[in-house]
Amino acid sequence: MTKKLYIQTLGCAMNERDSEHIIAELAQKESYKLTDNPKDADLILINTCSVREKPERKLFSEIGQFALHKKDGAKIGVCGCTASHLGSEIIKKSPHVDFVLGARNISKITQVLHTPKAVEVDIDYDDSTYVFASPQTMGIKALLNISIGCDKKCSYCIVPFTRGKEISIPQDLLLSEARKLAAQGVKELLLLGQNVNNYGVRFSVPHERVDFTTLLRNLSEIEGIARLRFTSPHPLHMNDEFLAEFARNKKICKAIHIPLQSGSSKILKAMKRGYSKEWYLDRVARLREFCAHEGVMDVGIGTDIIVGFPGESEADFEDTLEVVRAVEFDTMYSFIYSPRPHTSAYEIESSLLVDAEVAKDRLARLQNLHKEILAKKSQREIGKIVEVLIENHHTQEGWSEGRSDHNRLIRIVGFVGEIGQMVRVRITKAHGGSLSGEVV
Ligand code: SAH
Ligand code: SF4
Ligand code: F3S
Repeated sequence: MTKKLYIQTLGCAMNERDSEHIIAELAQKESYKLTDNPKDADLILINTCSVREKPERKLFSEIGQFALHKKDGAKIGVCGCTASHLGSEIIKKSPHVDFVLGARNISKITQVLHTPKAVEVDIDYDDSTYVFASPQTMGIKALLNISIGCDKKCSYCIVPFTRGKEISIPQDLLLSEARKLAAQGVKELLLLGQNVNNYGVRFSVPHERVDFTTLLRNLSEIEGIARLRFTSPHPLHMNDEFLAEFARNKKICKAIHIPLQSGSSKILKAMKRGYSKEWYLDRVARLREFCAHEGVMDVGIGTDIIVGFPGESEADFEDTLEVVRAVEFDTMYSFIYSPRPHTSAYEIESSLLVDAEVAKDRLARLQNLHKEILAKKSQREIGKIVEVLIENHHTQEGWSEGRSDHNRLIRIVGFVGEIGQMVRVRITKAHGGSLSGEVV
C-alpha cells in the first residue's frame, strides 16, 4: 500500500541532497509517495538547519503545528543538523516526535522509521561508501555529495559539530554515480561539500591520492554531462592549479561561490578562517587573470558575509565594504552573527559583542551596496551573448527561462525551448538584478 510523505527542507544544498536521498530510500524500500499537504501525510519529516539560532528556536512551534493538524497515526521525524545538535532532547521536549535522525545518519532512515523513539545522531558515523539512492525521476540538474563533514572549526560555525569530521567519498563511486545520472538525462551536476576543494584529504577506505582538481577533470570527461558546478570552495585551498583548471575546463561553469565572511584581516583571524583580506583579493585577482587568459572575460563570483562578529569595529566593517566594492559580487548571502553553542566564539567575552542595532544597520548598508553593484553590473550585461540551459518554459506566454554559464537567471522572450536545451541568447534588457534577452 502506498503511504504519503511530507518533507520540509531547511538549510543548505547539503540538506536538499539529504532530503532527496531520504525521499528515494522511502520510495524504493517503503512505498512512500511525496505529498505537499502535511494533513494528508502518514509521515512528516522536518530536515533542519542549526547554523543560526532563530530557525532552530522555531523548530518546536513547528512540530506543535504539525502535531495539531496531522492525520491520526501519522509519524513525525526530525532530521538534519538540529537533530544532530539537540539529539534526544528533542524527544524529551516534544512527545509528538517519533524519531530523531542526525545529518550524518540519513542513510539509516528506514531503520529509525520502525524503531519507536529512535535517536540516531552519531557524528562519527561514516556513510561515505554508502551506495547512493537517487530520485526516481531526474530533472536536468542533479546534486552530488563529494564529501561529508568539515575539519575546519571556524570559530562561529556549528557545522563541524553537526556533520562531524571531513571524509571524502571514493572517486570511483562518484564517477559511476555521475555516469548513471548522465544516462538518466542529467546535464548539470552540482558537487557538494563544506570545503569541496579540500577533496581527497581523507578517505575511509584505502584510496589513491586524488585532489579536487583531478576529480573535476575526470567528471568533466563523462559524456552527457554538459555543466559542472560546485559549492563551496574554501578561499584557503584555491591554489593556482585549481584556478587554472577552473578557467581552462569548458564544462566548468564560470560561476564560483567564494565565502568571504569578513573583509577585515583582524576579524578573519578571530573567525579562524586561515586567510587574510589580501589573500582573498589576491585569489580573486588570480582567478580573473586565469580566466582572461582563456578568453573568459566574465566570471560570476558569489559570497557569504557575516556582520557583527564579536569585536567588529566600524573600520573592520568598512574593510568588508571595500572588498565588496572591489570584487563586485554577483550573488551575496549576508547574515548577522548568531552565537552558536559548541563553537569557540560562543565563549567570547560579552564586552566584545556588537550591539544588535549596529549589526542590523551594517547588514542594511551591506545589502544596499550590493544592490547598487548588481544594478550597475546588469546594465553592463546588455548586448552580451551567453549560453543558457533552459530550465523552465511557458508555452502560452511564449517565453523560456534558464541560467547562463555564469549563473544569472535569464528570461528568453519570444522563444519556447525544450527543457534541457542549450541556446545562445543576446541580453537585451536589465531590470534591477534580473535579465532578459532573445535567441540569436
Ligand atoms: N562551508 C561553508 C559554509 C557553510 S554554513 C563555508 O565555509 O563557507 C553557510 C553560511 O552560514 C556560512 O558561510 C556563514 O556565512 C553563515 N554562518 C555560519 N555560522 C554562522 C553564525 N554563527 N552566524 C551567522 N552566520 C553564520
Ligand atoms: Fe563552517 Fe568553516 Fe566548516 Fe564552512 S569551513 S562548514 S564555515 S567550519
Ligand atoms: Fe547546512 Fe544548516 Fe547544516 S547550513 S550543514 S543544514 S547547519
